[in-house]
Amino acid sequence: MAAAYGCAVSSSPTLRYEHGTLVLLDQRLLPGARRELRCTTAAEAAEAIRSMAVRGAPAIGVAAAHGVAVAGRAAAVAGGGPSEVRGAAEDACALLETARPTAVNLAGAIHRMRLALMRDAGLISGAEVAAVLEAEAAELERFEVDACAAMGRHGAELLGDNARVLVHCNAGSLATPGIGTALAPIYEAHARGTLDVVFVDETRPRLQGSRLTAYELGEAGIPHLVIVDSLAATLMLHGAVDAVLVGADRIAANGDVANKVGTYALAVACAHHGLPFYVVAPTTTVDPACETGADIPIEERDPAEVLEIAGERVAPALTRALNPAFDVTPASLVTALVTERGVASPVTSSTIEGLVRR
Ligand code: MRU
Repeated sequence: MAAAYGCAVSSSPTLRYEHGTLVLLDQRLLPGARRELRCTTAAEAAEAIRSMAVRGAPAIGVAAAHGVAVAGRAAAVAGGGPSEVRGAAEDACALLETARPTAVNLAGAIHRMRLALMRDAGLISGAEVAAVLEAEAAELERFEVDACAAMGRHGAELLGDNARVLVHCNAGSLATPGIGTALAPIYEAHARGTLDVVFVDETRPRLQGSRLTAYELGEAGIPHLVIVDSLAATLMLHGAVDAVLVGADRIAANGDVANKVGTYALAVACAHHGLPFYVVAPTTTVDPACETGADIPIEERDPAEVLEIAGERVAPALTRALNPAFDVTPASLVTALVTERGVASPVTSSTIEGLVRR
């Protein structure tokens, strides 16, 4: 029976898989409350992704993989044989892959789980199939944890002494199962004693910066100041910023980067002020199937996120809003792409391909 719960427990404060349940730190409630959300079905996991209880490209991917494992385990516990468990996992894949469209880590994780199902077609019990799914999800989680640490090391090398860094959205431990993407070099620089301060864009409309990044940096004792998004260019003008670090939700083959809306404006401001603009993302965020940024699907979210603040309507009753959750920054504005495999600079199809194939 060892294989039945072969990879039963994984650990990260953001998400973990525990004996057939996906346990998430509910990010919608932070920083006010630290409450766990327990998903015992793939539908619950998909809803947690859609409603952003869990968010951030690598975290979404790993949560989806565990969501498939949850469905497989439930079918095995209910007495299902290999074909029932496979059927439940395939249904879960179909449900989870549509939860959010932009972060390719989600589609990539589901693809990986489907390959695992095909690879182990000869298994004879439902419990064995469920264990394969658990092991696959755990392996993806381990990969992302290690990738975060490696990106931290590579990225910290790019920052000078007393670095004053500006970040957007949340690309830290809450957005990944590890120490983050864009925040990883910041943790590393802080540990090395080379970080001065982090300017945290509040990140309208969902305030991932002021709610989540500030919470994370505060817990880690890292000096930071929250700013309104529109202050960033002025800080650059006054020489207060040395570099901008952002994560990514999907990187096209030519290096165009989809990330939280507002990222493009930061890249333009960096180019104007001659500042480095670094994108930090694992290779699981590169999508060779998208030739350019124009091929990346951009999620449109509920206009209420823009028209309301904390559930209170602030715009006139009949006013409508646009709410694309992401924008696309052309590769030409990205100084370097930092991945777990190293740094691509300049960012072009050939430097990216070199890294992905390495
Ligand atoms: O809508 P979100 O909060 O999921 O958006 C997250 C981001 O845009 C992050 O910058 C991106 O996922 C990289 S996170 C490690």
